[in-house]
Amino acid sequence: MHLLRDDGSAWIPTLSLVAEFQDQVVGHVCLTRAGIGPFPVLALGPIGVRADHQGKGIGSALMHAALGAADALDEPLVGLLGSLEYYPRFGFVPGARLGIVPDVPDWASHFQVRPLTAYELEIKGDFHYAEPFYRL
Ligand SMILES: CC(C)(COP(=O)(O)OP(=O)(O)OC[C@H]1O[C@@H](n2cnc3c(N)ncnc32)[C@H](O)[C@@H]1OP(=O)(O)O)[C@@H](O)C(=O)NCCC(=O)NCCS
Repeated sequence: MHLLRDDGSAWIPTLSLVAEFQDQVVGHVCLTRAGIGPFPVLALGPIGVRADHQGKGIGSALMHAALGAADALDEPLVGLLGSLEYYPRFGFVPGARLGIVPDVPDWASHFQVRPLTAYELEIKGDFHYAEPFYRL
């Protein structure tokens, strides 16, 4: 996380959100700058909810808040790597369906995208994460 936070071109403070319960942080999600060719887009993740608070809708609330904020900022699309069972409920579809693939082929099977209001069909090609993701 600190590599992402220290990367001025990747980290977007407005799109780093926390969930609180009784004055304690119990969940977090962030969206960072990514790109598809010349088009700036967003990558979602990591997302995490404290183990003792999982399964109560906090992850869903964080997802809806993040996607709503991205849409309001006229961002066209959010990509992520994650469960093919969990994320489709938020409107994510396999990236390949829109002609968008991660630039690391091994990631393709779990790569999904969520088009937002500003999405246009010409936004396709290789999805590139912020540099810190390639140092994991
Ligand atoms: C994934 C995570 C953020 C979801 O948060 P949450 O607050 O537990 O989620 P919600 O309560 O909103 O939703 C629970 C639903 O998500 C499902 N779910 C949770 N984690 C899942 C996973 N890894 N794969 C598939 N489904 C998952 C639950 O089965 C449940 O399904 P249901 O609504 O059909 O019963 C949380 O479980 C978590 O932090 N997990 C560990 C970290 C992680 O895997 N992060 C994702 C990769 S960065």
